[in-house]
Amino acid sequence: MIKAVRGTRDLLPPDTDLWNFVDSRVREVFRRYNYREIRTPIFESTELFARGVGEETDIVSKEMFTWEDKGRAASEKNQSLTLRPENTAGVVRAYIERGLDRTGLLQKLYYIGPQFRRERPQKGRYRQFYQIGAEIIGPTSAGSESPLRDAEVLDMLTALLEAVGLAGWTLYLNSVGCANDRPRYNQALREALAGVKDKLCPDCQRRAETNPLRVLDCKVPEDQPIIEKLPKISEYLDEDCRKHFAEVRSALDTLGIAYQVNERMVRGLDYYTKTTFEFTHGELGAQSAVLGGGRYDGLSEALGGPKAPGIGFAIGEDRLVLALQAQQQAAAVPLKAYVIPLGAGTNRHALALAHELRAAGVSVDIGDETFRLKKGFDTAEKLGAEYAVLVGENEVASQTFAVKNLRTGEQVNVPRAELPSKLA
Ligand code: HAM
Repeated sequence: MIKAVRGTRDLLPPDTDLWNFVDSRVREVFRRYNYREIRTPIFESTELFARGVGEETDIVSKEMFTWEDKGRAASEKNQSLTLRPENTAGVVRAYIERGLDRTGLLQKLYYIGPQFRRERPQKGRYRQFYQIGAEIIGPTSAGSESPLRDAEVLDMLTALLEAVGLAGWTLYLNSVGCANDRPRYNQALREALAGVKDKLCPDCQRRAETNPLRVLDCKVPEDQPIIEKLPKISEYLDEDCRKHFAEVRSALDTLGIAYQVNERMVRGLDYYTKTTFEFTHGELGAQSAVLGGGRYDGLSEALGGPKAPGIGFAIGEDRLVLALQAQQQAAAVPLKAYVIPLGAGTNRHALALAHELRAAGVSVDIGDETFRLKKGFDTAEKLGAEYAVLVGENEVASQTFAVKNLRTGEQVNVPRAELPSKLA
């Protein structure tokens, strides 16, 4: 038997009802906040992620699905391609390549789709997973650098989670500074790490040299007491970053959004500047981050584009659905009617009636004239239908149909014209 690849899964009904419920609710919230959809390719040049996300991140150094493409044209030979591990780099590439800066407006873009990381699979962590994300990016003159944007993004996130019915989350907030203060903080980290480096895991020993900020991402339990004692980023923020963070926090207070500052939270991607955040949920166990995001004021320039500060987030939809399931969030819309043809020659009449009801907006499924009446009712119940509609010779002749309410057991005869309103 051929099985699904490790870390990938089939999403089946009734779970897909919950996924579709989430998708439709979040699209509605995005509309209210004036975000519009962008769809970028599932694979991109490897270089995009190396430069955008950062060579030293776990994502780029260990987790990408990368291959040398067997391109036929000389220009395509030996090109290195990668399944997207995240969507921010792709959106910013599209922003630059398609000249979206020319409008002079802020681009408010959202996406829903699969991402790929070769992580060790466990509950809430998959190799193909889904993100619902959004990015707001544009020229400084459009207000892209303003702390108002950060607060508006966080406000929208609370609206998104409310719209899907998720309760009990915690928002963690941090500021990771900017190009101005990062060198000083990196230097302080390097100096502090010099004395203790040998006691850290091999990854951290390497990062201590190449990209010391990434040491703060380390999850190895033995390393934690040492990392806790490293210099705090808040002590190295420059005036502008400090002010920005204070304004984001006071806007959150005005909105009544509760948060906790977590100075260790530098997030596993190199493009972040200033505000970073994560929402966690208690039902998720070890993989508790239901979403993460932050500001990336230098990403467009790092990818060869114009100055275009931005901020965004991505919700892990697999984790969001897990948390909703743990909360017993139901989303299934039950089948309204099961049409039961009774006896030879009734199939076509039943099909015509089902067609009519479906056209009137009623969800309908249909049996077969070879079924006995009992099998018809049993199937209707297994499908969770609310009503059974019988289509026998007499019903066809009189154009009045026996309708049984499968919840109460009550049965009535309904003229054909009244059926849609009776079932609605
Ligand atoms: P990220 O923190 O790498 O950020 O991923 C965002 C969310 O995706 C995580 O909080 C988690 O819920 C989900 N996620 C990540 N990896 C997996 C996995 N292997 N299995 C299941 N879920 C996973 C980003 O991707 C950034 N692009 C977010 C962003 C947008 N920042 C600014 N704009």
